[in-house]
Amino acid sequence: MTRLPTPSGRQLAAIKLLVFVLCLLPALQLALGWRADALGANPIETITRASGEWTLRLLLIGLCVTPLRRITGLHWLVRLRRMLGLFAFAYAAAHFMTYLWLDQFFDWRAIATDILERPFITVGFAAFVLLLPLAATSNAFAIRRLGGRRWQALHRSVYAIAIMGVVHFWWLVKADVLAPLVYALILAALLGARAWWREQERRRQLAARPPARHLQKKTIRIVPLGK
Ligand code: HEM
Repeated sequence: MTRLPTPSGRQLAAIKLLVFVLCLLPALQLALGWRADALGANPIETITRASGEWTLRLLLIGLCVTPLRRITGLHWLVRLRRMLGLFAFAYAAAHFMTYLWLDQFFDWRAIATDILERPFITVGFAAFVLLLPLAATSNAFAIRRLGGRRWQALHRSVYAIAIMGVVHFWWLVKADVLAPLVYALILAALLGARAWWREQERRRQLAARPPARHLQKKTIRIVPLGK
């Protein structure tokens, strides 16, 4: 297979700019639609739904980076992951703010009741709370402070967050589960691929390790009696 070239510093900066603009487009579309009064009969619902779906999409696109890197050998893709994660957080924050402000008018009692009594809101809220430390530690300073291992362990919660996002979507749709089902299948494939690779790695390491001392074959010399 012909290997794709690694982009130069300038090319990578251009790719990052392109991804940045692409991630911004849905927000721009919503903002322009809001100004032009073109978000349909229920603009608040349109914003809530679009921001919720983009949160989920960006979480899943971020989870695609590692498998894509492994399959294609394009290791520089990892340099896009932080931006994708931060955009996922930005859309989640916009989604949550739309709910707090435009949907509930900061009626804290009604919001607390919703969080406690409507399971899809409970799980969405939990996912958002779990996203906060990930967004707060998505910088070089936090990686240095926490150390690579602890940082990685913390950022593994993105799998749980993505699962909660899909469950949140599944529980809120009344009848047509097709869209959440598609997200659930994509997420299952991404998590399944990771589990499979981890198992392969474990087996390779086991095969490469020398057998433990007490399991090593002992050579027994048989000395005939009387000699
Ligand atoms: C990581 C966190 C979250 C993700 C990934 C997420 C994702 C989604 C998705 C995909 C939808 C459905 C969009 C559609 O119908 O096309 C949605 C709708 C919604 N979400 Fe979230 N959400 C999150 C957090 C929250 C939070 C914190 C709240 C409020 C406390 C919330 C409240 C809602 C509401 C009210 C709807 C609209 C329900 C309806 O249309 O009846 N979500 N969300």
